[in-house]
Amino acid sequence: MKEDRILIRDAAQIVTCSGFKAKKGAEMSELSVINDGAVAIDKGIIKAVGKTCDVLKIIDIDDYHEISAKGQALIPGFVDSHTHFLFGGYREEEFSWRLKGDSYMSIMKQGGGIINTTTDTRNMSYNDMYAKGYEQLNGMIKLGVTTVEGKSGYGLDLDTELMQLRVMNELSNDHPIDIVSTYLGAHAVPPEFSGRADDYIFFMIEKVMPQIRKERLATFCDVFCEKGVFTIEQSEHLLKAARNLRFKLKLHADEIVEFGGAELAVRVKATSADHLLHASDEGIKKLAKSGTVATLLPLTAFSLHDTYAPGRKMIDQGCAVALASDFNPGSCFSYSVPLMFALACIEMKFSPEEALTALTINGAAALGKASEIGSIDVGKKADILMLKYPSYKFIPYHIGMNCVDVVIKDGVPIIV
Ligand code: NIG
Ligand code: FE
Repeated sequence: MKEDRILIRDAAQIVTCSGFKAKKGAEMSELSVINDGAVAIDKGIIKAVGKTCDVLKIIDIDDYHEISAKGQALIPGFVDSHTHFLFGGYREEEFSWRLKGDSYMSIMKQGGGIINTTTDTRNMSYNDMYAKGYEQLNGMIKLGVTTVEGKSGYGLDLDTELMQLRVMNELSNDHPIDIVSTYLGAHAVPPEFSGRADDYIFFMIEKVMPQIRKERLATFCDVFCEKGVFTIEQSEHLLKAARNLRFKLKLHADEIVEFGGAELAVRVKATSADHLLHASDEGIKKLAKSGTVATLLPLTAFSLHDTYAPGRKMIDQGCAVALASDFNPGSCFSYSVPLMFALACIEMKFSPEEALTALTINGAAALGKASEIGSIDVGKKADILMLKYPSYKFIPYHIGMNCVDVVIKDGVPIIV
């Protein structure tokens, strides 16, 4: 049927970010740009990509609905591979305390922080969580996000954690954005297990994780491995148990202090290690040699007024680096891709090419999906952004502003 087939043609440039696995080090600068390009899409899948004149030679134009992209650049949809987008309430008071000098950890130690949101999330109904989540996704897609990772971790008890994951699965079916779900029960020790972190880990392994696997509610298991939260030993124990239950692994690693999180991520063969502001030199070397993606979250560093993760050093040493928002109600109440992109380039010294790779094919790799999304390659999902400008170089240059004109999701154009 003609409605299923679209040809986007005469694009000023197509930045394919071509590849089927994470790009490491210098490879992150290779974008594969086609000038005067076209993409042919059939039933949501990319069928051909190349110069417009070449694509026209291999398709029957009468079968396609044509869209002109004159003066516009095409890039892959953004993959935001680290968010906590489902939560009850907000924490605007804590943000103003932080502006006056209180630290994120001191607020957490006084019973605020994650536990504050846990109370609000436990009091939320399924329908309210669904409606709030849907709204957040609407905001994200306008900025060009076509796949998002979402973590549980604001229920901490069995029922609320399952509810968060069930809501995410329903949202993934109903909303154009695809959602990859992560179980983050190990986000904090809940009040009912206060002072008994090991018992809480036992509870997660014995009671919660098998149920999640049974219902196939989450792909990944994550842990907030940090001084004062979960130790290296506790995190390793939990992650190994998760691996045995066939979860893929992620870690919140070396966010607040150097803690050996990067090293642990490599040891357990995690798909990604996230944050890494205070990763050790040894940890960075190990990441570079490993298959673990280093996922950096500059909006959180900005929001916490902390130093940025050493992304430049990581790329120079050969790591595969992804960028993600970390959207959550506490440390980073923002999913602004435009601001994240600008911070990566201006503050962390990424080139625009590296930043684009980090938000597309490497974001996809951080979700174990580099063979399906993250680039404009034949056979992949047609998740493509038409920009308002003729070059990807406008993204960091137009600081904090949205350069996305049209989002093509699964081959369907969505005007934003
Ligand atoms: O990635 N660090 C732990 N988790 C989140 C913050 C969650 C919260 O404060 O609610 C993060 O920054
Ligand atoms: Fe996070």
